Amino acid sequence: MKETRREPGAPPPAGAAPGGDPDSAAPDADLAVSLGDLVLANPVMTASGTFGGSGREFAPYLDLSKLGAIVVKTITPRPRPGNPPPRTRETAAGLLNSIGLQNPGFDRWVGEVLPLLRDIGTRVVINIAGETPAEYDELAGRLDGLPGIDAVEVNISCPNVEQGGACPAQDPAVTHRVISGVRARTRLPVIAKLSPNVEDVTVIARAAEDAGADAVSLVNTFLGTAVDWRTRRPVFRNVVAGLSGPAIKPLALWLVYRVVRAVSVPVIGIGGISTAEDAMEFLLVGATAIQVGTASFRTPSAAARIVRELPALLREAGAGSVREYRGTLRSWSHEAS
Ligand code: SIN
Repeated sequence: MKETRREPGAPPPAGAAPGGDPDSAAPDADLAVSLGDLVLANPVMTASGTFGGSGREFAPYLDLSKLGAIVVKTITPRPRPGNPPPRTRETAAGLLNSIGLQNPGFDRWVGEVLPLLRDIGTRVVINIAGETPAEYDELAGRLDGLPGIDAVEVNISCPNVEQGGACPAQDPAVTHRVISGVRARTRLPVIAKLSPNVEDVTVIARAAEDAGADAVSLVNTFLGTAVDWRTRRPVFRNVVAGLSGPAIKPLALWLVYRVVRAVSVPVIGIGGISTAEDAMEFLLVGATAIQVGTASFRTPSAAARIVRELPALLREAGAGSVREYRGTLRSWSHEAS
């Protein structure tokens, strides 16, 4: 699916939140964006695993219907207890996690969590993972016909499952196999969630695009670790963990910049986005949408605040819409001397 399919014209979905907050300084800014055929009222999504199980947990802190989309915690075919504690460790400018894809499994999720998402008033993106390509196939085949799911994000980039942080998104052939398998089994828009822990992320992004992904999202967490010098042990049982938060923002921005220039499908920027200014930077390098992750742990209303503040920043940038502003990064070489 090529970039031309997501350009202007598509109105926000019926019943979705309007782009701007009625109280904001620039309520008329058009925030709507399209990820292939999926239209979002605004580009602000929540990142998988950082917004509770269903997102409902955050309802006391923000109006969920104001968000562009909620991406739920990764679901696997069968329940996973996750890794033994400790599972998180705060760092100077971020968070290490080794959750291990804890989730109730697909059947319980459909029975208990999906109903909570149905009247939330915004787009819902399910995030799936499997231990083998066949497990991804199995899950994808069970998605169609489930009411209340607008897209599927395929987590091929979790570093906390196999020892050593390995994941499907480190190999273009495995990426292609998993994404084409999902593509063949669902009519939902397919988003491939990529890992930064690769030699060349553009190779993996192209493999996902060739396999039929409607969009790519990046980045998942960077490999990192923590050790306790007193006990002389690694903090995490797996030793390796995933780093997120402000520390990774410049790294993520660079990878998003590169992938935007390597593929034709929309790119969703993820990595240390905490403020509307951060979101503007990812949109400027060409991201179509962004996901707010670790920031929601510190400030549960962070994503809604970004939605609220974007119109004023767009106006300051001289743009009437996200689509007009997106990807308008200037080149030094084109400046008049
Ligand atoms: C986890 O559950 O370990 C985190 C999810 C991820 O990194 O994809």
